[in-house]
Amino acid sequence: MSSHPLGWPQPGQETDPQAASGDTLPAGFRLTELGPLPEAWGGLITLRPARSADLPAVVALDHEAFAPYGTAEAPEVFAQRLAVFPAGFIVAEDAGEVVAYGCSEKWRDLRAPAMNEDPATSHHPDGAAFCITGVAVRRSHRGRGLGLAVGERLLAIAQAQGCRTVVLETTHAQGLWERLGFHRAGERTQNGVTLTIMQRDLD
Ligand SMILES: CC(C)(COP(=O)(O)OP(=O)(O)OC[C@H]1O[C@@H](n2cnc3c(N)ncnc32)[C@H](O)[C@@H]1OP(=O)(O)O)[C@@H](O)C(=O)NCCC(=O)NCCS
Repeated sequence: MSSHPLGWPQPGQETDPQAASGDTLPAGFRLTELGPLPEAWGGLITLRPARSADLPAVVALDHEAFAPYGTAEAPEVFAQRLAVFPAGFIVAEDAGEVVAYGCSEKWRDLRAPAMNEDPATSHHPDGAAFCITGVAVRRSHRGRGLGLAVGERLLAIAQAQGCRTVVLETTHAQGLWERLGFHRAGERTQNGVTLTIMQRDLD
């Protein structure tokens, strides 16, 4: 991957706060024990692997974010995704509460995503196609770079997992994914909802 607009450390990369001086820190960022984070976060939000205890909050957040578009998924799908591919499931936590999540799968063959797929069937540990199955930020926390940070972290996971291509679909957040290097690869309709398929290759 060539660009990391938020400067997140990559999986497996040591974070040395001393290494990043004030001179090299982008404007609007502050240094925390996690590395550089946007000032707007106040240094309180952490991005970490999801745990099963997070699932009720993730399901509630999915409902808040996607029900208005008719694209909320079945609650059990999130537990299945966490069980099948925990490395691809992250949450952002603010003062002990889940305020964003991102989940994913690895596929053998690149194809269009679909809602409510059973990851026990669709996920392949050796797959080279990385599907971002869901990203949402709680309404109270939007517009502060958290969606970009979750997307960027998922891209880093995809690369660390040896994937070559990343795919997802969205009803309206095309702009977020274009900021992260995706292009519009197609369109499909499920349950009467039109979804744009977004795709990007990894270096
Ligand atoms: C889409 C979503 C994840 C964005 O989260 P966020 O934390 O508000 O996003 P960010 O603050 O990181 O936004 C960064 C950039 O993404 C783009 N973006 C964000 N939300 C967008 C939206 N709803 N539509 C189009 N572009 C959007 C903008 O370019 C924005 O840059 P700007 O602030 O300079 O305009 C959040 O609005 C959400 O959860 N929406 C409902 C669920 C959803 O649509 N998820 C994505 C489907 S895959």
